[in-house]
Amino acid sequence: MALVTEQGFVPSAPIEFLNVDDAWPADDSIAIDLANDVNLESIEDKLNRVHTIRIDFPSSADGRGFSLAKALRHKGYKGRLRAVGPLISDQFRYALTCGFDEVEINDELAARQPESHWKDFGQSSYANKLSSPLAPSERSDDLYYEQVTEVQHYGDDLFRFKTTRPDSFRFDAGEFVMMGLETRGTRILRAYSIASASYDESLEFYSIKVPDGELTKKLKWIKVGDTIVLKKKTTGSLILGTVNPGKRLFLHSTGTGIAPFASLIKEPAVYEQFEQVILTHTCRFNNELDYSRELVEAVKADEYVGELASAQLVFRGSTTREPGVTNSRITHDITSGELYTDLGIAPLNPESDRIMICGSKGVTVDMKAIFAEAGFTQGSLNRPGSFVWERAFVD
Ligand code: A2P
Repeated sequence: MALVTEQGFVPSAPIEFLNVDDAWPADDSIAIDLANDVNLESIEDKLNRVHTIRIDFPSSADGRGFSLAKALRHKGYKGRLRAVGPLISDQFRYALTCGFDEVEINDELAARQPESHWKDFGQSSYANKLSSPLAPSERSDDLYYEQVTEVQHYGDDLFRFKTTRPDSFRFDAGEFVMMGLETRGTRILRAYSIASASYDESLEFYSIKVPDGELTKKLKWIKVGDTIVLKKKTTGSLILGTVNPGKRLFLHSTGTGIAPFASLIKEPAVYEQFEQVILTHTCRFNNELDYSRELVEAVKADEYVGELASAQLVFRGSTTREPGVTNSRITHDITSGELYTDLGIAPLNPESDRIMICGSKGVTVDMKAIFAEAGFTQGSLNRPGSFVWERAFVD
């Protein structure tokens, strides 16, 4: 057998692995084998005595071992984690991010996928290239090169990260910027709403991991210390200047469309201009609402804007494909009036309500039709109106 670590194939000292049901010795020299469907509660209180856990992968298509590794790390397991089974080298980086230290493969697999495959993936992977940014002389004058300071993953599909912020980088809450990655010879930039407040010292972005997405398949591996790039100019329609004064501001988002509103709800001017701010976030599944739930809680507890937000911000998260707050689309909740009755607020009123929309193309197109039909007028910086959406994510 071969043992693969970030350093490549390494010699492995023989370890005697026990099964969960075996009698465990009284000391701390314990290594155990876990099936990927084990009930963790049965061993949770003994984990601190275990130095190595080996998790079985019956096939490379069975991802339960990855979830188990994450759960063990989440519960505070600090010992060594080994995956055993027919994993392929492409899965190695993911295994590491789930908390594994090493992968045990049999000789046949080691012959088919020699050390160079695993090392290439580890050493020359994008993740590693990211941590060796271009030399200052190779950098472009149009871009800021910023360091990642924090990364948080939300399940397998979503993540947020923070970066340093250049002193000269200014933006209005709700705007987006072209952001991405640059290595020698390649630069991939996409429009990303800035999720942090206009006055924050850092910049925050919230992203989905688009399957096979040119940028996010690389960006999802970023770690603290890596370098991202930003265009210097920001723009966007979801800013206070595009809507007329009014009484209530509705911020309707789906999926990662929450990001510009994450910035807006931290802006004191929003609460000065509107009596009430109603943020809706609709996702397919409950766990996709984790980001917005945490966000709203943090904003309401914030030293600077917390008092205003606690008094004036109303949040409604909803899901469409899993029982949650509702099981319907936001478009349905608006047209049926359930949104307003659920929240105990007055019905929609084009005279005094202002609306911002950020979501997928489908939801934006449908909402535009609903609000136009209800008498709302499209706003822009030159001609503020009663509703706006982000064109960059739709056209
Ligand atoms: P649904 O589950 O019914 O498709 P996505 O992940 O595809 O961006 O979707 C995010 C959320 O937006 C989901 O809850 C999805 O509902 C909803 N959604 C997608 N398209 C529309 C639309 N045209 N009108 C209203 N809601 C939509």
